[in-house]
Amino acid sequence: MKAVILAAGKATRLRPVTLTMPKALVPVANKTLIGYAIDVLKSAGLTDIGIVVNDLESPIPQALGSGASMGVHLEYIVQAEQLGLAHAVSLCRDFVGDEPFCVFLGDNIFQDKMEQLFNGFAESDDESAIALGEVSDPSRYGIAEVTPGRIERVVEKPKDPKSNLAIAGVYLFRASIFDAISRIKPSWRNELEITDAIQTLIDDGHRVRPYILRGWWIDAGKPDAIVLANQLVLEELPYTPAPEGRDQIIGRSEVSHRVILGQNTQIIDSVIRGPVIIGDNAVVRNSYIGPYTSLGDNVQIEGSEIENSIVMRNCVIRNIPGRLDSSLLADNAQVVSAQRMPATHRLILAENSYVQL
Ligand code: DAU
Repeated sequence: MKAVILAAGKATRLRPVTLTMPKALVPVANKTLIGYAIDVLKSAGLTDIGIVVNDLESPIPQALGSGASMGVHLEYIVQAEQLGLAHAVSLCRDFVGDEPFCVFLGDNIFQDKMEQLFNGFAESDDESAIALGEVSDPSRYGIAEVTPGRIERVVEKPKDPKSNLAIAGVYLFRASIFDAISRIKPSWRNELEITDAIQTLIDDGHRVRPYILRGWWIDAGKPDAIVLANQLVLEELPYTPAPEGRDQIIGRSEVSHRVILGQNTQIIDSVIRGPVIIGDNAVVRNSYIGPYTSLGDNVQIEGSEIENSIVMRNCVIRNIPGRLDSSLLADNAQVVSAQRMPATHRLILAENSYVQL
């Protein structure tokens, strides 16, 4: 079975982080969101993967290439205009051929490896199978109404939801979905909705099987959701003893268990309390790094405290009063205190930036 990951899209809700970086490349515990999608597919034995991107110059092909380093084979499918999930799927017709295939939304991250969803689908009588997860705010999702073993109805972002089971971004289809897509019309948000194509399969009398997810699932479309995903992934870091005596830990430093330190990273006169992951060539000096924090490569933290946050590559945080919490800093961002009087706040912010002082 082949798979396609949908990673085109405008990602406006994650700006400014996504002004220069597609959502699929946002790091969670120092691994890209799309890397987690590839892991799930690989563990289900799906290694032939098409990725739908805005264009071939997108940073996604540049970052992932042929997929050889991840043990998968990647091809790229261009969706020049983001006309909806069903439109994106229709562009994959040649790539998947007539075989059953999986569609995976590139901005969803799961605890569940979903073996039972994938196992046996190709040989089953099901026309489609869909992962569903319980949510507290169903109007934000595609919602499914189910009876045992069967999805009876699906509605995209219903105003008056009849269930709290959301479509969770992993779908198994057969070639029949392409015919269903050819028969749907754009929705109120002017997109061809995959949810409407699934309803067409149901209306045609086909069985669409529900798969109820185990564990957590996050649609990582907003900053808060990314920070939460980072927390949940770091929570699962296996126990590793405190890295005492390593030459990376210098001066009066204290580094707890469940802390991963990258190559050439230095911890100087600082306290690190895991679970924490720090990339390569980072320097943490005279600082406190609290639980659920991910620091990317080349990050410099000096005279500051931070916890429950994602700090991407090459960021600098220096002499900040108070503790940074639940923050998301994209590549090359700098947060520093004034070096001289007047000690003013000075902000150079991209569109949709958020500062809480
Ligand atoms: O996250 C689960 C939800 O995802 C489902 O419950 C909904 O039924 C489903 O429609 C979808 O809703 P969203 O509004 O969250 O979809 P979003 O626009 O965020 O797109 C999801 C992914 O698909 C994202 O990685 C971008 C990609 N995409 C999106 C569009 C609209 C494409 O590749 N092409 C597109 O045209």
